[in-house]
Amino acid sequence: MKNTAITVRPMSAYTGAEIFDVDLREPLEEQAYLEIRQAINDWGAVFFRAQNLTPAQQLAFARRFGTAEEDTHVSNMTGVDGLPEVKEVTKEADDLRNIGGFWHMDQSFYDLPSSFSVLYARELPPNGGDTMFSHLSAAYDSLSPGLQKTLEGLSGVHVRAHADSSGINSAASGLSFEYYVESVARFAGMEATHPLVAMHPESGRKVLYFSPVYTDRFEGWTRDESLPLMKYLTGVLGKPEHTCRFRWEEGSMAMWDNRAVVHYALDDYTGHRRMMHRVTVNGPWLERC
Ligand code: SIN
Repeated sequence: MKNTAITVRPMSAYTGAEIFDVDLREPLEEQAYLEIRQAINDWGAVFFRAQNLTPAQQLAFARRFGTAEEDTHVSNMTGVDGLPEVKEVTKEADDLRNIGGFWHMDQSFYDLPSSFSVLYARELPPNGGDTMFSHLSAAYDSLSPGLQKTLEGLSGVHVRAHADSSGINSAASGLSFEYYVESVARFAGMEATHPLVAMHPESGRKVLYFSPVYTDRFEGWTRDESLPLMKYLTGVLGKPEHTCRFRWEEGSMAMWDNRAVVHYALDDYTGHRRMMHRVTVNGPWLERC
């Protein structure tokens, strides 16, 4: 599709594109939404610069892509401006960890995880605090036909409590043992099983639906049996060629498709505050291959 309403500039070979020539304060023409959606299908994540949005305007934009979620069960997140769908994602200067500091897709521990996330920068550290994205189709496509076939027969069990554990990737370093024990108790049983390889409903591409932290094990396998293969897949997701890195500026907004990319909030700005507003929406889910 040739763009007529927006300008799209890809950020890497597979992942992420910046979008120019849009002002998101007011509703856009239908054509612009179609082209933004196409850009997300092509690149997994899109980024807007120099927007000046109220929480209500961010929410109105996100609602064009699905039903905004109110109850996201994520610790440290509260609704802002009386809008329960707009969550504050904050790391204070003396916090020991940030939310989302590991490769993951939002809410994959639910049967119906978030389709899209829309994150707007409110307060940024002077340096650091970037977010990285890795494309799940690029990861899948890079595997040998033999491994692709093996993975297509598997499902992953995604466990909420792992957000506060060390996962297999030292995800939440800096947390106290007491915090972890309390978190495991609070989120006990919050888990969901998803096919490890699935078909994206809009792009038609296969994705490797795997998070190094939320995926606890393969269904029917023990965690010990799962770990070696999960470690290998973690390396595939983290391969630099599959990723892009977004450097936030005041007024930046990112929108990503949790069915197509994993993301990783870098935790490299201790001593500074970072505050973002996040809206997640539900939509059509991945299809089993
Ligand atoms: C998230 O994991 O949803 C937050 C990402 C970020 O703060 O960059």
